[in-house]
Amino acid sequence: MSVIALTNVRPYGESTVNVLIKDGQIASVGEDVDTSKADEVLDGQGWVLLPGLVDMHVHLREPGREDTETIATGSDAAAKGGFTAVFTMANTRPVIDQPFLAEAVWNKGQSYGKCDVYPVGSITQGLEGKQLTEMGLMSKSHVRMFSDDGKCVNDPQIMRRAIEYAKAYDVLLAQHAEDHRLTEDASAHEGPMAAKLGLRGWPRVAEESIVARDMIMSRDYGGRLHVCHASTEGTVQLLRLAKQHSSKITAEVTPHHLLLTDEKLETFNGNFRVNPPLREHRDTIALRDALLNGIIDVVATDHAPHGSEEKCVEFEHAKPGMLGLETSLAIIARVFVEAGLADWRFVAKVMSERPAEILRLEDQGRPITAGEPANLTLVDPNSPWTVEPEELASKASNTPYEGMQFNAQVKMTMLRGAITYQADNE
Ligand code: NCD
Ligand code: ZN
Repeated sequence: MSVIALTNVRPYGESTVNVLIKDGQIASVGEDVDTSKADEVLDGQGWVLLPGLVDMHVHLREPGREDTETIATGSDAAAKGGFTAVFTMANTRPVIDQPFLAEAVWNKGQSYGKCDVYPVGSITQGLEGKQLTEMGLMSKSHVRMFSDDGKCVNDPQIMRRAIEYAKAYDVLLAQHAEDHRLTEDASAHEGPMAAKLGLRGWPRVAEESIVARDMIMSRDYGGRLHVCHASTEGTVQLLRLAKQHSSKITAEVTPHHLLLTDEKLETFNGNFRVNPPLREHRDTIALRDALLNGIIDVVATDHAPHGSEEKCVEFEHAKPGMLGLETSLAIIARVFVEAGLADWRFVAKVMSERPAEILRLEDQGRPITAGEPANLTLVDPNSPWTVEPEELASKASNTPYEGMQFNAQVKMTMLRGAITYQADNE
């Protein structure tokens, strides 16, 4: 197998080294590493080298809505965004509620080879909230996480059983926390902006009441529980309480809930409609603090492609969801690194190491040292670029960041020593 040398790279944004990659692994790292015998030399130009990013929450729409995204196009978008592993949610058509469907998703991802695509299994059959799936069988078909994401497991008895099974099979249960009775016909966060625009509101309590209930269930029944897309200040308070009592709860926050607020809704642009909705400034601030101090564990994009016919309609009729894979690193760099709140070690932690740890991935989120798998992302922290929907690798173009400028840009992504994405040389 060929030997690749990355020269002048800064692991975690620290001092400059050369990295030699052989047989899919990091062979050596250091200032004096001899790169003269490499088959391919890539000049890192002082850019930041991170472990390949891991996204616990994406929607790749295959099977069923291949017109908006496929495992292949989603893998391309993931690689371009710096990801080497993603977890694709079960709310496809058909729903991923049986082992052979999970196998098919995994196999497609592997044969395309740009990113490890892990199938998420649904908690209930058909996402109907009534009958549990065969979690034990699915856990033998590459399923490490179960979720009815897109829908909440509202029925407390079903949720209790799911938590007990999750404990028995040692898998992660991820909840989309939304009391649907409180969000009927809602398209925006319930607050002054929704009132002003005449939109039906989605109150914070619809999320927080489920998080609180699940927290107590996990305390008493003990399974590993994960809160998808935490979006409110109150959820942060609940998570703080849960963690004080050493609960097994983990949580994610999306880049859009860290960067955007419901002020964007004034445009009535359907690309700003998402579940849970964009909230208010104080929520954004609470979420940022929570990620900084570990109350929220990870960043997950909730990459949710939709066709233009589902987005370019009246706001209330637009489908909720926004693209995230290709913009998330740039957003996290802006909100935390460029703002002086955190360094690249933090980015590696919340976008690679912690998600890999939560999902028990042995080959992801590893230190950048000799003997480790060569799953890597090279980032130029200072390469201003503008988000243009038509330039995205994703099949869909429902990005809420159109026209926005960011600084950090992924230059190269590598999966087990193979380059899965490389930026064009300007
Ligand atoms: C997601 C989707 O489109 O599948 N939409 C969204 O607004 N986030 C489902 C989900 O994550 O809830
Ligand atoms: Zn969701």
